[in-house]
Amino acid sequence: MIKRDVNPPQVIEKQCIGCERCVAVCPSFVLEMAGEKSKVVRGDWCIGCGHCGAICPSEAILYHGILPEKNPKGGGVPATSPEVLGLLIRERRSIRNFTAEPVTKEILEKILDAGRYAPTGSNSQNVHYLMLTSTDQIKELRMMTESFYDKIFSRVKSGTGRFFLSLAAGKKTVEYLNEALPKVTYLREQMGRGKDRLFFHAPVVMITHAESWDSLSSFNCSVALYNCSLMAHTLGLGCCFNGLLVNAVNHAPKIKRWLNIPGDHRCYSAMALGYTKMKYPGLVQRQPPKVRWR
Ligand SMILES: Cc1cc2nc3c(=O)[nH]c(=O)nc-3n(C[C@H](O)[C@H](O)[C@H](O)COP(=O)(O)O)c2cc1C
Ligand code: SF4
Ligand code: SF4
Repeated sequence: MIKRDVNPPQVIEKQCIGCERCVAVCPSFVLEMAGEKSKVVRGDWCIGCGHCGAICPSEAILYHGILPEKNPKGGGVPATSPEVLGLLIRERRSIRNFTAEPVTKEILEKILDAGRYAPTGSNSQNVHYLMLTSTDQIKELRMMTESFYDKIFSRVKSGTGRFFLSLAAGKKTVEYLNEALPKVTYLREQMGRGKDRLFFHAPVVMITHAESWDSLSSFNCSVALYNCSLMAHTLGLGCCFNGLLVNAVNHAPKIKRWLNIPGDHRCYSAMALGYTKMKYPGLVQRQPPKVRWR
C-alpha cells in the first residue's frame, strides 16, 4: 500500500460540546456531526494532520490515545511578531566560513525537530534525513562529488562532450556549465590547495531524500530543510544549502549508493552546517519580487 498507515482520532462523546469546529477544519471529510456530537465516519481517509484535536476547545479528541499538546502561548496570537520574523528571515545568510567546533547531537536533534514539524503534501511526512557528522566521511563525500564534477566539466570542455551532455541534460544546462567553466576551474584550483569550497570545512552535512514517485517530495524536503536552517540560525549556527551535492547524488549512482539512499528515492536538498566564524551586521538584500497580480 502506498498510503501511509494512519490511525483516525477518537472523539470522546461526553466531552464534545457540539461546536462543529473539528468538522470544519478536517481536510479529509473524516468527521461529521451526528446530532450534537462529532463522529468519525470515514476513518480510513484520515491523513493524521491533527487539526481536529488542535482546534477542539473541550479536550474531546484524542489522537493515538492522547490529547494534543497545548500551545503554551494559548494559540490565540502568533508566537512572534512580523517584525521579529521578518528580521530573522533577513538575518539568515548562507554561511561559508565555519569553525571546527563539533555540533552536539542534542543541538542537531533540535534542528531536526524544526524539519519534522514542517508541512508535507497530504501530511505524508516522507522526508528522510541523513546526518554526516564525521570529518572523514564528509571528506570522502567531498572527494566523490569533486570527481563527479571533474568528469562533467571535462565533457563541457570538448565539443563532442558538450553535444552528448546536451542530449542528456539539455542545451541550456550545458550553456550554463560552459559559462561557469572559468569560475569552476578557479574553484578547483582552490580545492587543490586544501580549501573546501564545497562544504566549507563544515563539521556537519545534512541531506534530505524521499521517494521520487511522489511529485511533492521535492517541495517537502526543501520546506523541511529551510525550517532546519532557520532553527540552526536561532541556535547560533550557520548553514549553506548545497545544490552541487544534490545534483551529484542524483546523477552519480556511486555517491547515492555510498550514502545508502534507496534506489526509489531522490536527494532533494542538502546543506553544510556548523558554527559560524563571522557574524553579519548587514541584512539580506533582494530584488523586488517577480510578481503578477490578477
Ligand atoms: C537550492 C539552493 C542551492 C544552493 N546551492 C549552493 C551551493 O551548492 N554552494 C553554495 O556555496 N551556495 C549554495 N546556495 C546558496 C546561494 O548561493 C545563496 O542562498 C544565495 O546566493 C543568497 O545568499 P544568502 O543565502 O546568503 O542570502 C544554494 C541555495 C539554494 C536555495
Ligand atoms: S487528523 Fe486531520 S484528517 Fe484526521 S480526522 Fe483529524 S482533522 Fe481530519
Ligand atoms: S471540536 Fe471538539 S467539541 Fe467541537 S464538535 Fe469537535 S469534538 Fe466536539
